[in-house]
Amino acid sequence: MHSIVLVGGEGTRLRPLTLRTPKPLVPVLNRPLLTYLLAHLRAHGVTDVRLAMTSRSSAVEEALGDGSALGLRLDYIYEETPLGSGGAIAQAAANWDEPFLVCNGDIVTDLDITAMVSEHRARRAELSIALHEVDDPSPFGVAALAPDGRIDQFVEKPKRAEAPSRLINAGVWLFEPTLLSELDPTTFSRVEDSLFPSLAAAGRGIYGFHQPDPPAYWIDVGTTESYLQVNLDLLLGAVPSLKPPSDVIVADEARLPASATIDRAVLGSGTNIGRGATIRESVLWNDVTVGSNATVTGSVLASGCAIGAGVVLDRAIVAHGARVPDGARPPTGTQIEPDVAYAGAGAA
Ligand code: GTP
Repeated sequence: MHSIVLVGGEGTRLRPLTLRTPKPLVPVLNRPLLTYLLAHLRAHGVTDVRLAMTSRSSAVEEALGDGSALGLRLDYIYEETPLGSGGAIAQAAANWDEPFLVCNGDIVTDLDITAMVSEHRARRAELSIALHEVDDPSPFGVAALAPDGRIDQFVEKPKRAEAPSRLINAGVWLFEPTLLSELDPTTFSRVEDSLFPSLAAAGRGIYGFHQPDPPAYWIDVGTTESYLQVNLDLLLGAVPSLKPPSDVIVADEARLPASATIDRAVLGSGTNIGRGATIRESVLWNDVTVGSNATVTGSVLASGCAIGAGVVLDRAIVAHGARVPDGARPPTGTQIEPDVAYAGAGAA
C-alpha cells in the first residue's frame, strides 16, 4: 500500500529544539523521531512512503535517503509554500487510483494498522480515521461515533465542555482515491478543518477506527513535554517491542565516570558527564558536556550544549550550543535559545 507522511510543519511548539533540527529528526532514544513511524508502517506491510515536505524539512531527505536502511522505498515531494494537510495530500497523491494511508509525521504509535485497513474494506468506507481516547480532547480534532462506527460529527479543537466525545483524531487516515477530487493541490487547506467535518455532516462514509482493548500506545510529539514523555515512555516499556534492555541508554562514544548517577536517561554520542553529576529523567543529545556535581532533572539538552559544574537544571530545555555557567540555578522550566550563554539566577 502507498502512503503519505506529512512532515512539512513548522514545529513551533517544539522550539527551541526545532530551531536547528527539524521535528522529524529530533532524537528519540538516539534515533530520529520519524523512523519509529516509518518502521511501524513497514511492519504493517507498507512498502512505499512519500514524504510531503517543505524546504525547512529538506534535512530529512539527507538523513533518510531512499529509505533502504528502513526496508522502505521513500520519495519526497516538496511544497513551495506550505499547503496544509489538504493541499499536501492532493499534491502527493495526484493520479493515485488505490486506497492510501496518510499519517502525521510527528506521532509514535503501535496502532494496529492492519486491522484498520481490514475494517475500512469491510465497511466500504470512503475515509477511515484512527481514533485515540484521551482525558482532555480540546487540543485535538474530536469525533462523535454512531453505533456502526460512522463518524457523524467531527470538530477541530472544541472547548473541553463542548467536545462531543473523548475520541481524538490520531493522525492516521485511510483515504479512498475518489476523495482526491474534493481536495485542491494548489491552495492551503486542512482536511481536519474542512473535509472531515463536511463528510461527517453530509452523512458520507467516514468511519472511526478505535482499538480499545488493549489500547494502542499513541503520542503526538508536538511539544517539549510530549518529546520528553515519549523518550521516558519508550525507555520504561510503553511499547514492549521497543523497550531497550535498560532504563538508561548511553551511546557508545559517551563518557561517564563511575561517580555519576544516571537514572532513566538517554545520553547521545560524544556526551561527557563530570564526576558526581546526576542525570535523571532527561534526554541529552550529542556532544553535550555536563560539569562535575551538576544535577539535571526532567530536562532536554540539545547537541553541543555545555552545562557547568554544580549547575542545577529542573525541567529545562537547553537548545543547541547553549551554555550554562558554573553554579547557575535557572528557575524550573527555563528554556535557553541556541548558542546563548545563560546569564540569570546563580550564573557567575
Ligand atoms: P506546530 O508548528 O508546533 O503546530 O507543529 P507542526 O507544524 O508540526 O503542526 P501539526 O502538529 O499541526 O502538524 C501535524 C503534522 O503535519 C506534522 O507532522 C507536520 O510536519 C505536518 N504538517 C503541518 N503542516 C503541513 C504542511 O503545510 N505541509 C506538509 N507537507 N506537512 C504539514
